[in-house]
Amino acid sequence: MTSIHEIAPDVFRLSVYVPAFDMQFNHFLVRDEQPLLFHAGLKAMFPALREAVGQLIDPATLRHIAWSHFESDECGALNEWLQLAPNAEPVCTVVGKLVSVDDFAIRPARGLTPDDVLTTGRYRYRFYPSPHIPHGWDAGVLFEETRGTLFCSDLFHHFGDVAPVTNSDLIEPTRRAMRQLQQGPLAGYMPYTKQTEGVLRSLAALKPKTLAVMHGSSYVGEGDRLLRDLAGVIRDSFEGA
Ligand SMILES: [Fe+2]
Ligand SMILES: [Fe+2]
Repeated sequence: MTSIHEIAPDVFRLSVYVPAFDMQFNHFLVRDEQPLLFHAGLKAMFPALREAVGQLIDPATLRHIAWSHFESDECGALNEWLQLAPNAEPVCTVVGKLVSVDDFAIRPARGLTPDDVLTTGRYRYRFYPSPHIPHGWDAGVLFEETRGTLFCSDLFHHFGDVAPVTNSDLIEPTRRAMRQLQQGPLAGYMPYTKQTEGVLRSLAALKPKTLAVMHGSSYVGEGDRLLRDLAGVIRDSFEGA
């Protein structure tokens, strides 16, 4: 069962809750002239997601399929989407394109730098590389500049079958989740490096109005403050290992 909620104008959150992990997997569809999907999702979730996307647009008209870093929940079903939508193009960082995607995908990716502008019609985007944030050499985040939505992948991960959108501070739920992950088989989830704080500060300078979170509620409010505060959370959980 996929729950669908519009978290910002024309940005739809398609959420699948997995009780075994007490965790949501969220995918974001931008309904525009050239529809964009952020997070292709796990292969196992593809049938459910295709059905959910089909409630909003004709899935065959998808034009851009983007994600943060090369992992199954980010892009496992990429080729299924590319087969379904003949004009769809994978969109990721340049590192992602060169290191994994052009070999993995059935069509080559568009690797974006922050100087490149991607438009879907009414909305425009830039991809900011964020190596090893949340994790992965190829990681990046997508920022929709028109309305200020930051597609921030695993950043602000928190557990539970939570509300689609919240105004409540995500720092404490994220801190609890990071501690929990650090104590289990998925320890080391997000590394803390000399670059972490600076990259998060540069994302804060974008002043996002909405944070589109992959695992947990999307957030509307002081996105810049939360991004600055997140550096300390990542540092404490990683160094507390
Ligand atoms: Fe990830
Ligand atoms: Fe994830």
